[in-house]
Amino acid sequence: MQAVDRAFALRQRPPMPNPSRAALIDRLPKAELHLHIEGSLEPELLFALAARNGVAIPFASVEEVRAAYSFSNLQDFLDIYYQGMSVLLTEQDFYDLTWAYLERAHADTVRHVEIFFDPQGHTERGVAFETVLNGIERALKDGEARLGISYRLIMCFLRHLSEEDAFATLDQALPHLERIHGVGLDSSEVGHPPSKFQRVFARARELGLHVTAHAGEEGPPEYVREALDLLHVERIDHGNRALEDPALVHHLARDGMTLTVCPLSNLRLCVIKDIAESPVRRMLELGLKATVNSDDPAYFGGYINANFHAVAEALDLTEAEIVRLAENSFTGSFLPMADQIQHLAEIAEVAGDR
Ligand code: ADE
Ligand code: ZN
Repeated sequence: MQAVDRAFALRQRPPMPNPSRAALIDRLPKAELHLHIEGSLEPELLFALAARNGVAIPFASVEEVRAAYSFSNLQDFLDIYYQGMSVLLTEQDFYDLTWAYLERAHADTVRHVEIFFDPQGHTERGVAFETVLNGIERALKDGEARLGISYRLIMCFLRHLSEEDAFATLDQALPHLERIHGVGLDSSEVGHPPSKFQRVFARARELGLHVTAHAGEEGPPEYVREALDLLHVERIDHGNRALEDPALVHHLARDGMTLTVCPLSNLRLCVIKDIAESPVRRMLELGLKATVNSDDPAYFGGYINANFHAVAEALDLTEAEIVRLAENSFTGSFLPMADQIQHLAEIAEVAGDR
């Protein structure tokens, strides 16, 4: 065989499972930076809470729920996601939801979480802002004490609603600002550009909150630019479509902007057709600070380690690339530098100890 043919044949070979790489993923300390707590509502808990609260749901069994989790785009998913929230009514419900996620994260050697919540998805159903916040925060505090997982809490504005609504939500958060660390922007992206929320993000920054936004998941590269230039975000959530614009890629790489990529989410929402199309490896090659996250794991088929395993195998990531992704998760976090350095040292220990 000619050398060129041999190289081509090698490239065509499907990636092999790599046990040492898989073990590394399972052991590496990591931070999760893109997780919607409402998206961690597993069908079993959905049923238990529906029964506890006497809420009717349009499903007869857990299997039926899982069968309904077939989406052809973001909006398909969001319709079911908001419907699922209807079982969350009491502080204990939000506690149970968050605690269940933290136990899963702990099993995946997650040491730090920066989770999103969607207050408008609850207040518009008559659930008090404080009920939501108290339940989530109590679980996060227990997670810190009992599981050793530190946290930050990020309140998202639903971008299909108005900026006025977002301001009203920020007003509700004002008495609790020491308990909320940042704001984000999520929900239906196309048709709701970051520019729509420029004023409310400016106010959030004045209040000392961190800022991040979903951009470039389904929306064009211009939305990523707007998130940077108009919202002054510290992270881009997803960012896939930034790769269509080389000047934007250069800008993101130069500024060391963190991108919170969600491989299984991308697959299940048809942002990519195959997991091998995940932009994670390409982003690393371009010098972008990519991280791996689970987004809405109950709906997309896997928590953070499942996301790591899926891309590692499909893209045949090297162990060095996997370590880099774990490092990025801490250096892209809102943790103080001293804490980041401690986590990096722990990563080096695990990575070196093989
Ligand atoms: N809300 C929950 N998950 C989301 C996603 N992947 N994109 C936008 N909004 C969301
Ligand atoms: Zn998301």
